[in-house]
Amino acid sequence: MLIAEECGQVRGKAVLDFKQRRDAAWLWLVSVDPAHRGKGVGTALIWAAETQALAREHHIIELAVDDVNPRARALYERLGYRPVGPYVDMVRYIDDEGNRVCRDEPGVLLRRHLK
Ligand SMILES: CC(C)(COP(=O)(O)OP(=O)(O)OC[C@H]1O[C@@H](n2cnc3c(N)ncnc32)[C@H](O)[C@@H]1OP(=O)(O)O)[C@@H](O)C(=O)NCCC(=O)NCCS
Repeated sequence: MLIAEECGQVRGKAVLDFKQRRDAAWLWLVSVDPAHRGKGVGTALIWAAETQALAREHHIIELAVDDVNPRARALYERLGYRPVGPYVDMVRYIDDEGNRVCRDEPGVLLRRHLK
């Protein structure tokens, strides 16, 4: 797990998983505190993930982004991630009222080859 901190406060986090995919590191759960978005924290988290991947000799990072999230997709594409196919995100969680939420979010699989 990658944590972005400023003055001892957590501003964002991401998870880089080396076991999810066979030939790529899997980046997921990238999120930045809403009050601190648009200031480069997300970009810093992605760069940190790339550094960690290379340190473990993984030269490919993959991630999925939902179609309902075009701004996040724009960020990834600006950083060199390219679409390689469709991806369906199986969203499963229990909401604040205790309801089980189950839905499939269509999206895209993005990949970047690291140098
Ligand atoms: C996507 C996210 C991680 C980007 O983090 P960030 O710290 O705002 O990113 P940066 O400041 O490095 O870059 C900003 C870019 O992020 C993208 N972005 C996505 N959502 C954004 C938001 N709500 N506010 C600002 N930028 C956003 C835009 O492409 C923006 O580029 P622009 O300034 O040219 O429009 C953040 O908006 C977030 O936590 N969103 C909610 C969770 C989410 O959607 N995660 C991605 C799952 S695949």
